[in-house]
Amino acid sequence: MNTFYLIVPPHFEELALAELEEKWAIHFPEKTYQVLEKVLGGILIQTELALGCYLNKILKIPTRILLRWQEIKCRDFPTIYQKVLKLNWYEITGHPEIDFKITVHECRLMHTGRIEETFVKAYKDYQKKFPLKKTWEKEGWSTPTVFIRGQQDIFTISLDLSGEALYKRERPLVKHQATLRENFAAGLFYFALKHLDKKDNLFVADPMCGSGTFLWESSNFYRFSKRTYAYEHSPLYKIVQQSAKPRIESTLTSKIVGRDQNSTLIENLKTEWVDLDIPQLWETEDASSPESHPDIDLVLCNPPYDERIKLSMTYSELVVHLKRKYPNALIGVLMSVMKKNHEKAKLNPKTKLSFSNSGIDVEFYLF
Ligand SMILES: C[S@@+](CC[C@H](N)C(=O)[O-])C[C@H]1O[C@@H](n2cnc3c(N)ncnc32)[C@H](O)[C@@H]1O
Repeated sequence: MNTFYLIVPPHFEELALAELEEKWAIHFPEKTYQVLEKVLGGILIQTELALGCYLNKILKIPTRILLRWQEIKCRDFPTIYQKVLKLNWYEITGHPEIDFKITVHECRLMHTGRIEETFVKAYKDYQKKFPLKKTWEKEGWSTPTVFIRGQQDIFTISLDLSGEALYKRERPLVKHQATLRENFAAGLFYFALKHLDKKDNLFVADPMCGSGTFLWESSNFYRFSKRTYAYEHSPLYKIVQQSAKPRIESTLTSKIVGRDQNSTLIENLKTEWVDLDIPQLWETEDASSPESHPDIDLVLCNPPYDERIKLSMTYSELVVHLKRKYPNALIGVLMSVMKKNHEKAKLNPKTKLSFSNSGIDVEFYLF
C-alpha cells in the first residue's frame, strides 16, 4: 500500500472526495482505498501504487497528485546526506536529474538552498554507486519533480505524479481573456449535478460560454483526460500498465449548447470543436434576449465580474433573464462577492459554494 496526497482547490475537498468515491466504484469496484486525512486544500489516501497513479487520468477536481514516498528525520546536513544516499531512488525515478522543491517549517535546518544542494549531491553520488539505465534517454523522459517538506525536523519526500497541473487539459484552443480554470468548472458541474434530479441524457448550456470551459468539463467529467503525466516518465509506468485496468469512459451529457454575445468567439468555437464526438450547438445570443430554451436541463455560467470585462446588468437582472430563458433548467451562476455586495443583491438561491478564483472571492449559486 502507498500513500497519495491529492492537492485540491480549497473548499472543493468534499466534492473531490465524492468524485473519488463515485469514480472508484466505476473503475476499480473490486479494489479498496482509505481516506487518511482531509485538510483545507488536500486529501491523503492510501491505496495500491498503480491505482493512485491512475487517478490522474480519471479525476477532474484535483490540481495535482503526489506519491508520499519517504520520511526522514534530520537535524544536520551530514545526516540528510547519509539518509538520502541510502534511499532506493530507482523505485520512483530513472532520470539522472531531479528537480527538488523544498519547503521548511519549524525545522532546525532552515536554509532551503543548502538542503536542495545536499539532496542533489546525495542523488548524484547514489548514481555513482548504482549506474543508471538509459531508458530515460531512449524514451525521452522529462525531469521529475520531488517535493521535500520539512516540518519539525521530519522531511517528507513526495514524488509529483502529475507533471503539468491537472487542470491543463488537452482541449481545442479558443483564446479568451477570462477562461475559468478547468478544475473549478469541473467541480462546479459536479456540485450542480448533485442538486439535479435528472442524472443522464443531460442538455447543458452556458449562455456566456467564453472559451467553453463549462461545456468542455460537462461533457468530459466521466471521460479519461487525454494527456501525459509525470508518472509515465518513470519506472512506475510499467507497474501501472500491468495492473491498473480501469473501466470504459462514459458521459452523462448528451448535448452541449454554447451562447455568447461575442460572435467571433462563437464562430471560433464552431470551427475548433467540430470534430468532437458530442452533439453541440453554438449561437451568438445576448443573455437578456427574448428567446426561450425549454430543452435545457442545466445552465452553468461565469458572467464577467465587472473587473476586466463588464456585465451590462445586475446579477439580480441576469438571474431573472436566465430563469425566463431556461424555464426547465437548474441554473448555476458564478458571482463575484464584491460585485454582489456592491449591488446589495438579494438572490434567494437553492444553495451556494464559496471559494477564491485567482484571488477574487466568488460564490457559485444554484437557482
Ligand atoms: C468571464 S467570461 C466567461 C469565461 C468562460 N467561462 C471561459 O471559461 O472561457 C464572460 C463571457 O460572458 C460574455 N458576455 C458578457 N455579457 C454578456 C451578455 N449580456 N450576453 C451574453 N454573453 C455575455 C462575454 O463575451 C464573455 O465571453
